[in-house]
Amino acid sequence: MTVLYAYPGNEAMAASLARQLPQARVGECDWHRFPDGETRVRIDTSPDNEDAILVCTLDHPDPKLAPIIFAADTLRDLGARRVGLVAPYLAYMRQDARFNPGEAISSRPFAAVISRWFDWLVTIDPHLHRYASLDAVYSIPTSIVHAAEGIAAWLATEYRGAVVVGPDQESEQWVSDVAKRAGLPFAVLVKERLGDRNVRVSLPEEDGWREHIPVLVDDIISSGRTMASAARALSGAGRPAPVCVAVHGLFSEDARSIMHAAGIVRIATTNSIPGPLGVIDMTPALANAISAQLHEDPSS
Ligand code: R5P
Repeated sequence: MTVLYAYPGNEAMAASLARQLPQARVGECDWHRFPDGETRVRIDTSPDNEDAILVCTLDHPDPKLAPIIFAADTLRDLGARRVGLVAPYLAYMRQDARFNPGEAISSRPFAAVISRWFDWLVTIDPHLHRYASLDAVYSIPTSIVHAAEGIAAWLATEYRGAVVVGPDQESEQWVSDVAKRAGLPFAVLVKERLGDRNVRVSLPEEDGWREHIPVLVDDIISSGRTMASAARALSGAGRPAPVCVAVHGLFSEDARSIMHAAGIVRIATTNSIPGPLGVIDMTPALANAISAQLHEDPSS
């Protein structure tokens, strides 16, 4: 048997995964936050020599990190055979270099902590830019679920006459894959980041898809500035109002209103982070990846 435990906010994802995995059930646990900000974790369903899976998407990761370590430690103490982590969004992957003198390369210690406490990790399209794979920083078995197929199927149903547009050069890897699967053309814009909330995006000389509805596709929407700036570049060039699709919708602060103010008519993401815009369901693909991890022999 397998027992899935949900960090608060991940209950729907855990329940859906439990329905799709053979011999799996949702376990009860309690996450009590004391007034001083410390957390007491209590596992109410003991994982007696079973596989335990913690489901916790890692947006806004800092307050989640200590509680998930406490949960992993307790699950092992209570007899879990292995403790896996399903983190549909994996934090800190964009901090993969020392961009300025003295900065932490946060992806590295973050991965070391997760690898210390969990036996395996399943995630969706982590931001792999400077690292070739998660193995560069994670020392446990990891599986990456790709959202391209789900996004392409959604696009093929909703936006037949579109051009898939990447807001920056880094997005080309996702955009070209999604466009190919959806049978749509693609173009990639040029982005210059001037600060956390300040980016400038420009169009390539001529992309040849002037009349098509532009569907901006990126891996992450965080402040929304990349998408907003891309939308303004498109409308400045007389293109139709764009739609935005992302794998992970972090939507910090005023991201949504900034995007709509820039003329974006619709925003859709996967359900890697709970929210009303998460219309592309990744649970079937996650369940497949989890099954593969569960069938790995821990002693080999
Ligand atoms: C860049 O490295 C990522 O692929 C996204 O383009 C970026 O994280 C989006 O950030 P924001 O929404 O803050 O512009």
